Amino acid sequence: MTIIDKSNPFPAKIKERSLLNKAGSTKQTYHLVLDIKGSNLTFKPGDSIGVIPQNAPERVADALRTLNANPEDPIVDPRSQQSMTMLEYLTHKVNLARLPAFAPLLPRFYSVASSPNTHPDEIHLLVALLQGGVASPFLCQAAELESTPIPIYLQPAHTFFLPQNPETHIIMIGPGTGIAPFRAFMQDRLHTQSPGKNWLFFGERNRASDFFYEDFWTALAAENRLRLDLAFSRDQEEKCYVQHQMYQQSKELWDWIQEGAHIYVCGDKEKMAKDVDATLQKIAVEQGNLSPEDARLYVRGLRTQKRYLLDVY
Ligand SMILES: Cc1cc2nc3c(=O)[nH]c(=O)nc-3n(C[C@H](O)[C@H](O)[C@H](O)COP(=O)(O)OP(=O)(O)OC[C@H]3O[C@@H](n4cnc5c(N)ncnc54)[C@H](O)[C@@H]3O)c2cc1C
Ligand SMILES: NC(=O)c1ccc[n+]([C@@H]2O[C@H](COP(=O)([O-])OP(=O)(O)OC[C@H]3O[C@@H](n4cnc5c(N)ncnc54)[C@H](OP(=O)(O)O)[C@@H]3O)[C@@H](O)[C@H]2O)c1
Repeated sequence: MTIIDKSNPFPAKIKERSLLNKAGSTKQTYHLVLDIKGSNLTFKPGDSIGVIPQNAPERVADALRTLNANPEDPIVDPRSQQSMTMLEYLTHKVNLARLPAFAPLLPRFYSVASSPNTHPDEIHLLVALLQGGVASPFLCQAAELESTPIPIYLQPAHTFFLPQNPETHIIMIGPGTGIAPFRAFMQDRLHTQSPGKNWLFFGERNRASDFFYEDFWTALAAENRLRLDLAFSRDQEEKCYVQHQMYQQSKELWDWIQEGAHIYVCGDKEKMAKDVDATLQKIAVEQGNLSPEDARLYVRGLRTQKRYLLDVY
């Protein structure tokens, strides 16, 4: 059996692509369904995939003009020593968004947003389009449906996966694209009929336009299979973020943690994950009657026990 990895990626095709933001949104975030039939890729909720992107044709054309080169000119890739055409080299090997440095075109990672139990031949992704980027415009705009090969490989999660005991409660904190792995988690928990309780904190800019997978979450909440707390940051003057919702629910959040809940955080690393961590410490001070130092150690202990898990970027 062929092993799929970074040097031998699987050429997935995009089966479906839809913009999840509705009219009036200030963002563009896409739901993608990749066809992985025949790949033998085995993954679990919490895993990510590596995507080997390619530069947009307009950027390649610009680079050819700047270099005064022809697409068919031969070149030896100085890194791999492989011979190829200039077109191949500029499309696949160098990051043309970072000119003039000619840095290598590196893979980008995306959290899998579907469970293999419910979608065995597919990988769903939630991708925020970053204008000026490489991989997100490739996936969200340039790649053609059912046609352009998307070279992918598995980037397994080392700790960011569902608790082994299906009775364990889970608290999921995932603003923006951070919600992606939690869709996989919930699909899986429903499939396996896990009795543990589930709690999701989701945040985005505006409820009317940016509530990704709204029907899925609201149906689960209506059936009491999910506790759902939402933080739409731009629906009112004051910012409302996931950690503000967590703080408002301090007592119950603390109770869940005392009952052994696992806490998962996914999304922005620079600000959100730090603020969420600080809020957990504040909750531990106030609800657990701990000193700030003991609260810090308590939260760190949750990390060591692999009950507080991060997938942040
Ligand atoms: C484990 C993991 C999981 C992830 N999961 C997801 C996910 O589920 N969904 C998701 O959307 N993302 C996810 N990401 C982020 C994703 O991997 C990419 O980083 C993201 O899509 C941006 O890639 P890009 O190639 O489009 O942009 P890049 O080309 O990497 O550019 C990133 C930003 O830098 C800017 N930029 C580019 N060139 C320059 C320059 N020369 N100077 C200054 N700024 C510049 C771009 O405009 C852009 O805003 C994840 C990351 C990790 C590590
Ligand atoms: N390079 C950039 O300029 C840039 C810009 C945006 C995102 N990103 C990165 O792009 C990736 C995808 O972003 P995304 O689309 O998933 O969404 P995101 O930018 O993480 O935003 C999702 C939600 O989180 C809110 N938010 C902002 N700061 C927060 C904080 N400190 N704590 C909690 N919530 C906070 C946002 O509110 P508000 O936006 O209303 O503050 C928004 O409602 C992430 O890696 C992110 O870091 C980069």
